[in-house]
Amino acid sequence: MGDRLVSSNVSEEEELIEGSLRPHHLSEYVGQEKIKANLSILLEAARRRNESVDHVLLYGPPGLGKTTLCNIIAAEMGVNLRTTSGPAIEHAGDLASILTSLQPGEILFIDEIHRLARAVEERLYSAMEDFAIDVMIGKGPSARSLRLNLPPFTVVGATTRVGSLTAPLRDRFGAIYRMEYYDQDALQRIVARSARILRVMAQEDGIAEIASRARGTPRIVNRLLKRVRDYAQVRADGVITHEVAKAALDAMEVDEIGLDQTDRNMLMTIIQKFNGGPVGLDTLAASTSEDSETIEDVYEPYLLQLGFIARTPRGRVAMRAAYEHLGLTAPGGEGGQSSWIISSK
Ligand SMILES: Nc1ncnc2c1ncn2[C@@H]1O[C@H](COP(=O)(O)OP(=O)(O)OP(=O)(O)O)[C@@H](O)[C@H]1O
Ligand SMILES: [Mg+2]
Repeated sequence: MGDRLVSSNVSEEEELIEGSLRPHHLSEYVGQEKIKANLSILLEAARRRNESVDHVLLYGPPGLGKTTLCNIIAAEMGVNLRTTSGPAIEHAGDLASILTSLQPGEILFIDEIHRLARAVEERLYSAMEDFAIDVMIGKGPSARSLRLNLPPFTVVGATTRVGSLTAPLRDRFGAIYRMEYYDQDALQRIVARSARILRVMAQEDGIAEIASRARGTPRIVNRLLKRVRDYAQVRADGVITHEVAKAALDAMEVDEIGLDQTDRNMLMTIIQKFNGGPVGLDTLAASTSEDSETIEDVYEPYLLQLGFIARTPRGRVAMRAAYEHLGLTAPGGEGGQSSWIISSK
């Protein structure tokens, strides 16, 4: 499953390549214009006041550039970055030892921040607010609590599920940025940049073809580029032309709008097995042998964005656009579940 196109699992080898493709400065970071504009003000203001940056929360689907942006924040501020993740901090004591070892101004990146244990989370938000943490010294009846002051620091949190964050934690972030899917133009610029770094010859319409099938996601566009490059080297003369890109992507069964077998299988399941829905997430997961969390975090956001499925209080439904894309006739003449009331959950 690791080499699946939309997968958010990044292999060790891929991590190396991702590292080499990762932009290091805000000026190299393509797209997300609104975030970049706000962030550059936030950073500039902190620099002028000679303060640490306000805590920043980044949220959005996998592969859109949250980790990259966090690295950029540290680089732009010229400070050290400490990286950890929600599940890695098991106990409040782990958090205390991380926080007490921070240097002034340093950035603590907490990936998957929605997966912090509750007890850890409570400690964290008091630390974020007061720059102090209470630690227990000793055990049993002689145990006492000691308040340690912390240097000013910045938490950058990243999550694919902002809805799972508790309100008090969310409120501790001075800046909350929602990552958007990238448009065609931004994706083309990313492919062109990556092709330059990887020294791949690519023509403009080949680049455009790759970008249009990347479901708005930089990680996927880079993965596609690498596979198309392989194809170009084996089946053609190494240059990514429009024909080469198209043939390679067709062979990978990635369609014109970036859907792969799993997406199509999921849509077909809703439409054929469940009459277009509504079908509950867990039932859908069981019928497609996918993990419900993967469906919710990785597959579904793009299908929702396309208007192919909708979430209703009773489950997922297939919308008319999905029928049309799959070449099926939507039920009920006008068709599809276009009259479903769409809820945000
Ligand atoms: N704005 C961008 N410009 C150029 N390349 C980008 C941009 N955003 C992301 N990338 C590329 O996409 C890859 C994936 O981005 P990143 O690891 O930051 O995603 P993420 O949002 O942290 O994903 P996840 O939720 O899975 O952790 C990076 O290695 C980088 O090469
Ligand atoms: Mg990340």
